[in-house]
Amino acid sequence: MSTKIIYTSATGNTKEAVEILQEALEDLGQDVEVIDAEDGVEVDEFFDGADNYVIASWSDGANGEVPGGIVDFYDDLDGADLSGKKVAVIGTGDTSYPHFCAAVDFFEKLVTDDGAELAAPSVKIELAPDDDAIARLKDLAKTLAA
Ligand SMILES: Cc1cc2nc3c(=O)[nH]c(=O)nc-3n(C[C@H](O)[C@H](O)[C@H](O)COP(=O)(O)O)c2cc1C
Repeated sequence: MSTKIIYTSATGNTKEAVEILQEALEDLGQDVEVIDAEDGVEVDEFFDGADNYVIASWSDGANGEVPGGIVDFYDDLDGADLSGKKVAVIGTGDTSYPHFCAAVDFFEKLVTDDGAELAAPSVKIELAPDDDAIARLKDLAKTLAA
């Protein structure tokens, strides 16, 4: 089975989470393709050819916003047809902000509005992944690989 992951990361926390997820998936024999959202992939191109899709983002803005690095992809997702697609959302954030991991909630709502099935509960991580977060990412990998 295969998973495509699109991510954005400014200071490395989300990238680290993606690398942990990628390694866990590969340890389970999965094929994984990782795409930096800043490379500008189209929605139709991303959601093609894999069994599972993962969106990974940090949260920006005082009240929680989708960061600039992935906002074009987010905007293009609005109204896309994701029926039949299995999607999981992960993100890193900071609980000192009023809306922790807001971008995770925004993406989760958008992809389900577009008809996608959530492949697993979303994973929200406080800053850089600690042992607990690593365990949750490994659990996500197991769910995606099942
Ligand atoms: C300007 C700014 C605004 C932020 N706003 C939020 C927010 O609303 N909610 C949240 O959970 N985290 C917020 N954060 C924290 C980041 O999401 C967090 O540090 C994240 O782990 C950064 O990910 P990265 O290292 O992949 O860039 C904000 C950080 C910055 C710099």
